[in-house]
Amino acid sequence: MKKKDFPVENVRRFIEPGPIVLVSSSYKGEHNIMTMGWHMIMEFVPSLIGCYIWTENHSFDMIKKSGECVINVPTVDMASTVVKIGNSSGRDTDKFEAYNLTAEKGKKVKAPLIKECYANFECKLYDKSLINKYNLFVFEVVKAHVATTPKFPQTIHYRGDGLFMIAGPTTSKFKKGFKPEML
Ligand SMILES: Cc1cc2nc3c(=O)[nH]c(=O)nc-3n(C[C@H](O)[C@H](O)[C@H](O)COP(=O)(O)O)c2cc1C
Repeated sequence: MKKKDFPVENVRRFIEPGPIVLVSSSYKGEHNIMTMGWHMIMEFVPSLIGCYIWTENHSFDMIKKSGECVINVPTVDMASTVVKIGNSSGRDTDKFEAYNLTAEKGKKVKAPLIKECYANFECKLYDKSLINKYNLFVFEVVKAHVATTPKFPQTIHYRGDGLFMIAGPTTSKFKKGFKPEML
């Protein structure tokens, strides 16, 4: 395999986590949504997810102040809406209204669920110690709502530069190589 030097600031294009998610929030009666690609699983129990939220996003203040959000998983049919949400700000746009999305009441947080999304994870801020240094919010998922079909939804995964990868086939071909605790 022939390789060439690659700009370090663009390596994210190969290891970007997926799928793209929509983070909804609520603060003082206002609802908002942002698009997010930079997230990572940090623990099984409690169920922890680390999220990078840029300080300039309106969502940053709303989520920091309310200490809550919902992580919603959209599918490929919502891709153009995902882009619109990520290229507008709740400072001057009601994104639920502008993009015809339905806000549903959560069970454990005040932030709304996005009904059109395949899955919705209600989250509470678990650790705020990395927010100031890295804009990294560590959330605990306290309630999860997931569609029953299809089993493997066509999620979208951001590759940078305006490109998305759409989730493809799922295989169990390599399952026998796993230790049970790694499954
Ligand atoms: C594909 C895509 C991925 C994005 N990923 C992130 C991310 O991981 N973290 C982040 O802070 N902003 C991310 N953004 C930018 C925010 O979604 C964008 O700034 C958004 O409009 C913020 O909305 P708000 O001001 O209403 O909070 C992404 C945008 C797009 C289009």
